[in-house]
Amino acid sequence: MTSNASKWANDDDEETAAALELRKREKEEKKRLKEEKARKAAAAAQAAEQSTSEGPTTEGERPSKRQRTSEEQNGPSEEGAHLLHFPSPKIGPCRHVDEYELLNNIEEGGYGVVSRARTKASGDIVALKKLKMHHTREGFPVTGLREIQILKACRHDNVVKLLEVVTERESKGPLSLHDTYLVLEFLEHDLKTLLEDMIEPFAPSETKALMLQVVSGVKYLHSNWIIHRDLKTSNILLNNRGELKLADFGISRYTGSPRPKLTTSVVTLWYRAPELLLGAQDYHFEIDIWSIGCIFAELLTTKPPFQGKNEVDQLCQIFDLLGTPTKQTWPSVTSLPNAKDLQLVLSEGNGRPSTLGLSKFPYLTTTGLVLLSSLLSMNPSGRPSAGEILTHMYFKEDPRPKAKAMFPTFPSKAGQEKRRRRASPQAPARGNAPKLDEAEDEGLFAGREDEERGAGFSLRLG
Ligand SMILES: Nc1ncnc2c1ncn2[C@@H]1O[C@H](COP(=O)(O)OP(=O)(O)OP(=O)(O)O)[C@@H](O)[C@H]1O
Ligand SMILES: [Mg+2]
Repeated sequence: MTSNASKWANDDDEETAAALELRKREKEEKKRLKEEKARKAAAAAQAAEQSTSEGPTTEGERPSKRQRTSEEQNGPSEEGAHLLHFPSPKIGPCRHVDEYELLNNIEEGGYGVVSRARTKASGDIVALKKLKMHHTREGFPVTGLREIQILKACRHDNVVKLLEVVTERESKGPLSLHDTYLVLEFLEHDLKTLLEDMIEPFAPSETKALMLQVVSGVKYLHSNWIIHRDLKTSNILLNNRGELKLADFGISRYTGSPRPKLTTSVVTLWYRAPELLLGAQDYHFEIDIWSIGCIFAELLTTKPPFQGKNEVDQLCQIFDLLGTPTKQTWPSVTSLPNAKDLQLVLSEGNGRPSTLGLSKFPYLTTTGLVLLSSLLSMNPSGRPSAGEILTHMYFKEDPRPKAKAMFPTFPSKAGQEKRRRRASPQAPARGNAPKLDEAEDEGLFAGREDEERGAGFSLRLG
């Protein structure tokens, strides 16, 4: 105890001596500076007296003040002393929607409308998405705020670009909010509309090119902690340069680690992962990977693989194709909130086997089937990450992914006409520009003959 005490005491003594010495030196320096300041003030006063005619007396003291600052220059030079600049986003009122001229509606949903429009100032074609404002009593809808926040933060070739946010000129009453529109870059197609009108699916090299772009976009989102939560073919856009972009971030959100508890009513039913259907609230990026699996199957056959009428029917269709999960293949399945109701199915011994096979996907290779079944792994931890998908052998084997410049072009419904689902859709002739429907030309497009017609319909070879 005593030896310890003396050790600390010795250290203290040394430090005290050093501190006293430092304080003594500081005092001497202060004294020297004070004397120098007094000397300079006297010299300045003398100079001012001598040159009263050279400047206003009130400003006579300024040089001495300036000199003082120049003394500071003996310290760090201007170049060395960096001021920290923090970028502050410019906040100002939104521009008005009448900066844009409406051309045609692309999609009219229950709440919102997406239209094709022309920028009056530049003539550029854009898409205007009117935000759904059905929660106006609660203020600006949180889904709209998230969509703006996420789209503003995203910069990636495979994520649709938000150009600006504009509002309607007049609000409709003192309590109502201005209608708000997202101004997005315009792309001629969404994958659902293209697939609906195709007799044959995309060629394998085209499917690979599309898949690579979908997964690259999703990899970017996941590496920025964003879960899309509504990946489906109608939310995936394609332009006539073979460029694909993810869209519709209406129910996307940032996530984190540890996983937050989230709402389970996300993702359109047909693309919804089994853990969500079973009520998991701690889901994560894997739900997007499941949706990618459904999209992959849809690209291969033109039809979504599971088309349930409700959540139970959706699960039954999943089990029909992929077999039933067991405690071996998905150990935590029984602890999911809705699993109790499925106890019968789960207790079927080894479970029903998967019927996912090449016979259902005639355009797929064995390697491709391995990828598809991993994406559609019932147990979320069995699904690969977006990064892992990109390095899969399927993309390396022949035929290789088609280059964007070689991608076929299609007539753009969004660019030409208000969408109408036809009873018996006609497949667009690939690489062949169909003649525009004259009757529709006279109606919707009367007097707009010199307007931009959207896609070129020829196969580009360069
Ligand atoms: N930037 C765009 N360029 C061209 N068309 C677009 C664009 N954005 C959206 N669309 C079209 O509008 C449709 C609806 O857009 P989006 O999914 O963003 O809106 P939504 O109101 O959330 O739709 P839903 O509720 O049906 O998913 C898309 O499927 C696509 O056909
Ligand atoms: Mg959508």
